[in-house]
Amino acid sequence: MPSTTRRRFLAAATALASPGMLLPRLSAQSPESRIDILLNEPVGTIAPEIYGHFVEHLGGLVYDGLWVGERSGIPHVNGLRKQLVDAFRRVKPGVVRWPGGCFADQYDWRDGIGPREKRPKRTNFWLDAQEWPKGMRREGPQVYDPNEFGTVEFARLCKQVGAQPYFAANLRSLPAQEFWRWAEYCNSPANATTLGAQRAADGEADPLGVRFWGVGNESWGCGGNFDPDDYATEFNRYTAWVPGYGARLAMVGSGGNDGNSDWTRRFFAKLARLGTLDRLWGLSLHHYAWNASGGRTSEWIAGKRDAVQFDAEQYYEILRGADEMEPLIASQWALMGEADPRHRTKLVVDEWGSWYASGTEPFPLALLGQQNTMRDAVLAGLTLDTFNRHADKVAMANIAQLVNCLQSLFLAHEDKFCVTPTYHVFDLYSAHQGGRAVRTVFATPETHYTRNGSPATMRGLNGSASVTGSQLTLTVTNPSIDQVHEAEIVVHAGTPRSAAAVTLATADAHAHNTFADPRAVEPKPVTVAVKGSGLVHQFPPASVTRLTLTLG
Ligand code: AHR
Repeated sequence: MPSTTRRRFLAAATALASPGMLLPRLSAQSPESRIDILLNEPVGTIAPEIYGHFVEHLGGLVYDGLWVGERSGIPHVNGLRKQLVDAFRRVKPGVVRWPGGCFADQYDWRDGIGPREKRPKRTNFWLDAQEWPKGMRREGPQVYDPNEFGTVEFARLCKQVGAQPYFAANLRSLPAQEFWRWAEYCNSPANATTLGAQRAADGEADPLGVRFWGVGNESWGCGGNFDPDDYATEFNRYTAWVPGYGARLAMVGSGGNDGNSDWTRRFFAKLARLGTLDRLWGLSLHHYAWNASGGRTSEWIAGKRDAVQFDAEQYYEILRGADEMEPLIASQWALMGEADPRHRTKLVVDEWGSWYASGTEPFPLALLGQQNTMRDAVLAGLTLDTFNRHADKVAMANIAQLVNCLQSLFLAHEDKFCVTPTYHVFDLYSAHQGGRAVRTVFATPETHYTRNGSPATMRGLNGSASVTGSQLTLTVTNPSIDQVHEAEIVVHAGTPRSAAAVTLATADAHAHNTFADPRAVEPKPVTVAVKGSGLVHQFPPASVTRLTLTLG
């Protein structure tokens, strides 16, 4: 390691450590990296909703991926693909967002209620998307939506996997009254309103208790091309006097494009001026990692790279894109604080993940479908650790999207199914849910790579820690594509008695699961031993690791 780099990371560690704190070393022959876990410096409780998901009527996500129908020969639970439901439940999803995305601002919730065979067939928002392969015949439920999957079908998915529902309401093309009526259909007692009775007739007698409501989606773009002042007016109209029927409604307002500061400032300023800021439970933030730079939509699409074929530079560039999340959270939080110094409104990162060029989708109609390699697993670990470290700011986050679309947890087509490396990361990280995030200090060399022919760096070992009872969970990603990193892990203000570790790593970062080889990437237990106040551990290249320490 060059001495300047070593000086830089040691300086960073010193700056992060509390004044006067002595950080004891475990051995004379110190490893190059060091992770300090400061049990007496809590950050906040990690909301289970940070481990949230996203289901949009987009390509092969709902139809074929998730919904196979009640008459299907594929094993299902009330029409929902059983293998997916069972695996999904295991990762303890905190919340699921539906029905979009851009689709939401075109969706009429009334199309998805009542007897399924009488529901109307509608043209899907994504029919004319530029991402469709040239000359492809577009037909089927992926483009002409039969509305078989509507509100109660989605609510049943949530119930079966133990997640809370999060609805994205249509602000662009339905009046505010329809938003309240959708809430009435979901939440009013069955015997109190006509819509409550309709829900009961649809099979759900008990109110659904839907708490989370998105008020439009990307309202700066596909959600209506609003400016922040006009959007604030609409937000106020939509959220005024919405009955909760006992549910503590949590309204999420649209954020600007990828953290546009002008949008946040003006939206918050207007709500503050009108005295309605307390209606805004969360501000939505969307951030994707892609190799393509901006420009016109067609150029941006053409610039994207493959999900599976990548060189070292493309590998790091995707991770660098994902790593923009932390400064985005910090800058949005500061802007929100200008009008809301007590920070009653939290951040809701309700779309995040990798976005590649088409070509690896599991079947042609799976628009925006893509394969998912160890690179994506590292991206997921890096991002979830960022959310954990900011548990005081991020109240919810939703990876885009659940199955057959963008950085999905599952791939499915007809009777074929597999989980992706990203799924395993959610499984490992579920141990953080509801835990108390504590501050960590990672003193570690940066990762070096070449970008456009010039030297570039990104962070080295990184992660987060949380405590639940006597269990300390530390998750760590090693973004280096080819270097093992050894770290000394030291626990402060607590004594670890025993430790266990599970690692997701493969010999090659391109590794991925397929229908033919569904277990190519799987987590494996690793032997670890506590020594004094911590342990020494080696993190393989392009890996995600969970260490569980039992505190005395
Ligand atoms: O997740 C795919 C799309 O990306 C969503 O529909 C939209 O909100 C975003 O631009």
